[in-house]
Amino acid sequence: MVTAAPTLMETRPAAPVLPPRPPAAAEPGPAAPASALAPAAETLIDIRQVDFFYGASQALHDVSLAIEHKKVTAFIGPSGCGKSTLLRCLNRMNDLIDGTRVARGTIRIRGVDIHQPDVDVIELRKRIGMVFQKSNPFPKSIYENITYGLRLQGVTNRARLDEVVEKSLRGAALWDEVKDRLDASGLGLSGGQQQRLCIARAIAVEPEVILMDEPCSALDPVATAKVEELIQELRSRYTIVIVTHNMQQAARCSDKTAFFYMGRLVEYADTRNIFTNPANPQTEAYVSGRFG
Ligand SMILES: Nc1ncnc2c1ncn2[C@@H]1O[C@H](COP(=O)(O)OP(=O)(O)OP(=O)(O)O)[C@@H](O)[C@H]1O
Ligand SMILES: [Mg+2]
Repeated sequence: MVTAAPTLMETRPAAPVLPPRPPAAAEPGPAAPASALAPAAETLIDIRQVDFFYGASQALHDVSLAIEHKKVTAFIGPSGCGKSTLLRCLNRMNDLIDGTRVARGTIRIRGVDIHQPDVDVIELRKRIGMVFQKSNPFPKSIYENITYGLRLQGVTNRARLDEVVEKSLRGAALWDEVKDRLDASGLGLSGGQQQRLCIARAIAVEPEVILMDEPCSALDPVATAKVEELIQELRSRYTIVIVTHNMQQAARCSDKTAFFYMGRLVEYADTRNIFTNPANPQTEAYVSGRFG
């Protein structure tokens, strides 16, 4: 039995939609010395007791997880354990799949339940961008790939678009490689360049969160290293959630790691603890390669 999915855009006037994002923080100064006085991490996305179904089949069981602001969170676990499903819950991409429902629990962004009827799902997906396993540039020029989202928002000013193209491509560490061929097709780039183009396209609309579902699984080690470097650069400005099967990648790139098994969250902790001193024997077996 499937309950009605929330409609994509309810038309109630002056709805609160999502809470405004706070003003951009000033550039951080020199790194403060490690201190016991470090402020507590801020939760950006609060997932509580989520049960998720594809039709009659339950894919997530009682998942609770607090994703921290401006941190990299890795989702790990064997195939089919629900990593992509949970990722797609965060910007309601699962709404696009017939028969899906969050049957219980809540997902809040800065305190606002994303399933509230007055949440504007288009705005939600703008705030929470996504990069997929298989890079998916549009069959358009590099320039048009980057400006697509802005044009949808009605931005036509050429100087403004030029500025965003350069900034996004620089942000995705691709500018130097493509600046002389912005009118060439995005499909003519190498696999690793295409994936960085997709990251540039995601950041062009200035999201707060970037969800990445196995962004390097189709890339060679050099391209993978570039995307990992990019994640390191993006982490000061964005909250990143990355699904990966590559344990070294999770260990290298993330601050927090969540280990899932059969639709349940088994353990969620600082990445260092998950890999060196996991609390749960299942986590230990998985990260040491004994199953999965
Ligand atoms: N569109 C769908 N319709 C029905 N069931 C689905 C759908 N997508 C995923 N599932 C099921 O939900 C469960 C979780 O799948 P999900 O894709 O979230 O796993 P995953 O951890 O991302 O796996 P992988 O590492 O292989 O990508 C699996 O049992 C899967 O078969
Ligand atoms: Mg997956």
